[in-house]
Amino acid sequence: MEEKRILCVGLTCLDIVTEVAGFPKEDTDQRSAGMSWRRGGNASNNCTTLRNLQKSCEFFGAMSSLDNDVASKFAEQDLSSLEIAFENCVRFPHPLPSSIILLNNENGTRTIVHHRGGMPEITTEDFKKLDLTKYKWIHFEGRARTKSGERPDVSEMIAHALQERKKNPALDFKVSVELEKTYEGVEGLGTEADVVFVSKEFTGKFGCESGDEMVKKFREKIVKDAMLICPWGDKGAFASDAHGTYSSPVFSPEKVVDTIGAGDSFVGATIAKLSEGMSLKDTIEFSCKYAGAKCGIMGLKDVP
Ligand code: FRU
Repeated sequence: MEEKRILCVGLTCLDIVTEVAGFPKEDTDQRSAGMSWRRGGNASNNCTTLRNLQKSCEFFGAMSSLDNDVASKFAEQDLSSLEIAFENCVRFPHPLPSSIILLNNENGTRTIVHHRGGMPEITTEDFKKLDLTKYKWIHFEGRARTKSGERPDVSEMIAHALQERKKNPALDFKVSVELEKTYEGVEGLGTEADVVFVSKEFTGKFGCESGDEMVKKFREKIVKDAMLICPWGDKGAFASDAHGTYSSPVFSPEKVVDTIGAGDSFVGATIAKLSEGMSLKDTIEFSCKYAGAKCGIMGLKDVP
């Protein structure tokens, strides 16, 4: 039987990364120190980390059905080259979303301008078509429905996955969700998941000033036995479960060269280690080391 996969549900896009010697002033003209195309998007980046850590994984999200969409072809080739499955992706006749990213060579900061264009979002109905027996973990990028309905509510997908798991003893996957963005509705998405990631930005929106405070307070909003994990950039990471709270320091590389997807690497590494049964405390320390090492190299592949 094929090894069970880790499924990541969310965005894949083209990242057009332009390196700059310093952050440019508006309305000036300069040469770039380097330029690259990368496959990006949180869920897609999570998969890259999972493959680096030798996990069998699958990306599920919207992709282009257009024959002439170069960005989509590029992303597909890249997914295939890393053996990340994507055969269940939903195809739409729209170009793949893209991001223009300025990577500052001075300090590794990344400034992202994302363009989704006309690409629709996948729906709960699409998610329901998946054969859930194939997965040992299902991770969702937290996306909440807008008033006009253009975003799917991943809480519906999470509810479906959990209902199926309850009905069928053969389904033993864990469910995780990342609450990263701060738009309205995101706070309601993690309430049922087994593992909830909350970003620094989301923590601020929730009214907490530190990761430490967040992993205590946000527990009221999630199920009692869930794990809550809050990566906090240069302060490391904080976590809590039903038994207590944990923290890890940051592990900075000698020089920070590239922070694009550092948070996604943290999440991917955490899922990889928790899926192996590593303790929450050891896992967040591993993931802080992994994300630190990532910031010391260009890109997300081949993190040492
Ligand atoms: C990094 C990233 C990029 C992408 C952007 C989308 O976390 O996933 O790869 O362009 O965020 O918001």
